[in-house]
Amino acid sequence: MTALLTLNNVCKSFMRGGILSRHRIEAVKNVSFTIENNRPEIFAIIGESGSGKTTLARMILGMQEVSGGTLSLEGNRVGGRTRKERLAFMAKVQPIFQNPFEAFNPLKKIDYYLLLTAMRFGGSADLSEAEAAADVALRQVGLSLSEVRGRFPHEMSGGQLQRVAIARALVSKPRLIIADEPVSMVDASLRMAIVNLFGELRDKLGLSIIYITHDLATAYYIADRLIIMQKGEVVEAGAARAVLSDPQHPYSKQLRDAVLSPQVTGSPSIK
Ligand SMILES: Nc1ncnc2c1ncn2[C@@H]1O[C@H](COP(=O)(O)OP(=O)(O)OP(=O)(O)O)[C@@H](O)[C@H]1O
Ligand SMILES: [Mg+2]
Repeated sequence: MTALLTLNNVCKSFMRGGILSRHRIEAVKNVSFTIENNRPEIFAIIGESGSGKTTLARMILGMQEVSGGTLSLEGNRVGGRTRKERLAFMAKVQPIFQNPFEAFNPLKKIDYYLLLTAMRFGGSADLSEAEAAADVALRQVGLSLSEVRGRFPHEMSGGQLQRVAIARALVSKPRLIIADEPVSMVDASLRMAIVNLFGELRDKLGLSIIYITHDLATAYYIADRLIIMQKGEVVEAGAARAVLSDPQHPYSKQLRDAVLSPQVTGSPSIK
């Protein structure tokens, strides 16, 4: 069976600086991993600021071209496609970003986004189909269309709006969600609810989620597998609990020690 997502030695370099100080930055270097089609999972990408996580996410989303290597979704190369292929691709892979308030135009009502997404990517032929699809997606995140109808983004809490962003991502029935620091701006008390929601989406909808985070505690709690990145390279990869309970690479150890808390040191009651 063709894998859902395959990265093979993916690289990204940027040119930086002025005419005299021009130099190349290797933001992502030879990253390879596969997410299988028949095995939904939460795949965490962990690493300090500047380690290349967002660059990697943007390449997977087709928002940025790879400088080297190959990246394919269900066997089709990501990037460089016609508008129709791009729309089909966007339906399958959906992003969730760090700040839900930036993901929504403050002047537009929330239901507008959901209905628009349902018509554009979700295959809804008319308004009533779009409303039904939006309601289904909102219910999958613990909300409903009647609850959000007519409300503006600022009328919701960060945690609620992040749920709406997840619902919007679900409307097109994606196979893969790329969530880049999705809980770092959400109030701590709501963080676990969102992380648990990812687990539910994996288990109930069979979605795979790439969960990008600095937060080892939530990665340890929810991720099935993970990679740890440092300066664009993968320094450690494997089953999340095994890696975080017994990191091998000095950088992974440092990361673990930096956030050492009773939660991360492995109380068996966590899951
Ligand atoms: N468009 C760009 N032009 C030039 N350099 C870039 C660009 N985008 C990212 N970089 C550089 O690539 C490197 C990786 O950045 P990236 O944003 O992927 O890191 P990150 O792991 O997501 O960091 P953070 O945890 O702070 O979000 C950094 O050195 C960054 O400055
Ligand atoms: Mg980033």
